[in-house]
Amino acid sequence: MSDTRLSKLLDAVQPSPTIAMTRLAADLRRQGKEIIGLSQGEPDFDTPEHIQTAAFAAIAAGQTRYTDVDGTPELKQAIVDKFKRENGLDYALNQISVGTGGKQVIYNALLATLDAGDEVIVPAPYWVSYPDMVRLAGGTPVIAPCLESDGFLLTPETLRAAITPRTKWLILNSPSNPTGAGYSADALRALAEVLLDHPRVMVLTDDMYEHLRYDGWEFATIAAVEPRLIDRTLTVNGVSKAYSMTGWRIGYAGGPADIIKAMATLQSQSTSNPSSVSQAAAVSALNGPMGFLAERNAIFQERRDLCLTAFNAIDGLSCVTPVGAFYLFPSCAGMIGRTRPDGKVIETDSDFVMWLVEEAGVAAVPGSAFGLAPYFRISFATATENLEKACARIKAACDKLA
Ligand SMILES: Cc1ncc(COP(=O)(O)O)c(C=O)c1O
Repeated sequence: MSDTRLSKLLDAVQPSPTIAMTRLAADLRRQGKEIIGLSQGEPDFDTPEHIQTAAFAAIAAGQTRYTDVDGTPELKQAIVDKFKRENGLDYALNQISVGTGGKQVIYNALLATLDAGDEVIVPAPYWVSYPDMVRLAGGTPVIAPCLESDGFLLTPETLRAAITPRTKWLILNSPSNPTGAGYSADALRALAEVLLDHPRVMVLTDDMYEHLRYDGWEFATIAAVEPRLIDRTLTVNGVSKAYSMTGWRIGYAGGPADIIKAMATLQSQSTSNPSSVSQAAAVSALNGPMGFLAERNAIFQERRDLCLTAFNAIDGLSCVTPVGAFYLFPSCAGMIGRTRPDGKVIETDSDFVMWLVEEAGVAAVPGSAFGLAPYFRISFATATENLEKACARIKAACDKLA
């Protein structure tokens, strides 16, 4: 018999480790320590002004009531147009779902499709929420390791080996949180070849970081690269990262009408529609000018390069160059086995990250939280001066390890 008031469902999941580190940093700050927070993944820019204006106008016009459960017709049309214009994907209005953030959309999709024992292939390093969402939905995550030597990308061989008769989904995330790695059209084509041999396997592609990309890297999404997969692909995206709208909570997906309908049924019995005002703002985001992105990406790229140069100059750290998103995922393999001045040995990436927060006052997240060790993740979506200070402090803390 259970000795807790909580459901057994909770045994399957952990609180998000990135949120846990953000909390620890907040606690240390309350104790008077100056902590530079590099653990959270959100742009430090404001939501562009024209989007804010659209939200004010929506409130003034009385768009403050319930809407259709999975999105207003105006927002769904803007999403259909976005998929066509930017990705070459043809979706009808009944193939679009809007939820309270990409997170809800992904969770709805898993909940709507998984039965006990169904497997979901999750390439690692992964966004922390995927495996736990799969478990909450009753499924079994099957972790497919993606090595640094393969650019942290899933290879066709690893995919083929991970597929079983119980495989329901493959989750792809490009550009990736936490590595910033991205799949080229050719790389996606090679994965699609494997999937064509397994007609039951569906693909959930999380394209949340589509617009944050560097060095001219070209984004591609699997249903556009291999149109034969369109009937079994859910293409997830959102306004959080590209438009600096993390707090507005709007995410969306295009996919097969039966799954989209099931997702709406679930949403109708949980949260109902996402905020009406946020939906109006998202219409303005998707239909509006995108010129601000080039400027913001240039700033992100400068920050990425600043941190890359600093980390690669530290003995014991090395970092591959990300093509997108706003994270670095350096290896700290060279730090394992070193000793702190207090005699404690750094045995894991978690030990290393604890040393960084205690000694350098820099909050990062261990690679083990994302399914690959020994690494750590930092977000460079913060002010350049913070990053300069953080890099200098990380170097000083690393120099103290013997
Ligand atoms: C890979 C990835 N997918 C989805 C999300 C969820 O985004 P949203 O804020 O729209 O829920 C995040 C947010 O951190 C993410 O990193």
